[in-house]
Amino acid sequence: MVELTETGIDGLDGILGGGIVRDSTTLISGNPGAGKSVFGLQYIYSGVESFEEDGIYLSFEENAEDLRQAAESIGFENWQEHVESGAIRVFDKRELLRENDFSSSLEIILDDLQDSRYERLVLDSLTMFQLFFEDERERRTYLLKLTDILRENGLTTVMTNEQGTVFPETDIGLENFLTDGNIFLLQTPTESGVNRYVWVAKMRKQDIDTDIFPMELAQGGIQVHQNASAFSMLGEGESPI
Ligand SMILES: Nc1ncnc2c1ncn2[C@@H]1O[C@H](COP(=O)(O)OP(=O)(O)OP(=O)(O)O)[C@@H](O)[C@H]1O
Ligand SMILES: [Mg+2]
Repeated sequence: MVELTETGIDGLDGILGGGIVRDSTTLISGNPGAGKSVFGLQYIYSGVESFEEDGIYLSFEENAEDLRQAAESIGFENWQEHVESGAIRVFDKRELLRENDFSSSLEIILDDLQDSRYERLVLDSLTMFQLFFEDERERRTYLLKLTDILRENGLTTVMTNEQGTVFPETDIGLENFLTDGNIFLLQTPTESGVNRYVWVAKMRKQDIDTDIFPMELAQGGIQVHQNASAFSMLGEGESPI
């Protein structure tokens, strides 16, 4: 039996067959504004609020104050309290980008990665993290090294990735193969706003539902509608991809 970690994202854990595999790394891909960062915040926040699992949030994109505002604006009102108590350990871009090579950056976070207090980790985003490296080979080596370190330290990890939905004719990023799970967040513009969808494309060791499900991103965070009838949200002649 594989052990699972519930994401705490409403409706998603059912699609995943219970959650994501413990100690694995899952990639959350999507275009700008698709909800990747909210996904990461929600995963860490609900870990603390609902599952007694403390988490580490690494952001190469924002500073700690921006993260606090983003979390509070979406309704994760105890975010800062958890940061202050140490239940959520934030490393923001100021800390992570102080060094200009991966090994030195890793030194900064290593103590906390090895601290058995933490069970969840978010890296937002892998796209920025990869800027540390000059070529694909180096990138691949370090991504594998990092995912090994995370696994060895019992961290169930979510990494965000700036990438649209994969079409057969498009290059599939190497990171999709190197991670245990792939979830895509999709959005299509409508007259009144945007329709959002989630697609779990891969989850090693798990029997997943690979349909595309509608989701909402609003106060309280992301909510996935598992009921296929919610597909009526999709307008005539409109494609979710
Ligand atoms: N408090 C909120 N209430 C309602 N919707 C929100 C709220 N906060 C964010 N959103 C929605 O979520 C979207 C951004 O989500 P998020 O920052 O997670 O995107 P992202 O995929 O991380 O984008 P990027 O690639 O630019 O980092 C916003 O464009 C907005 O539509
Ligand atoms: Mg983001």
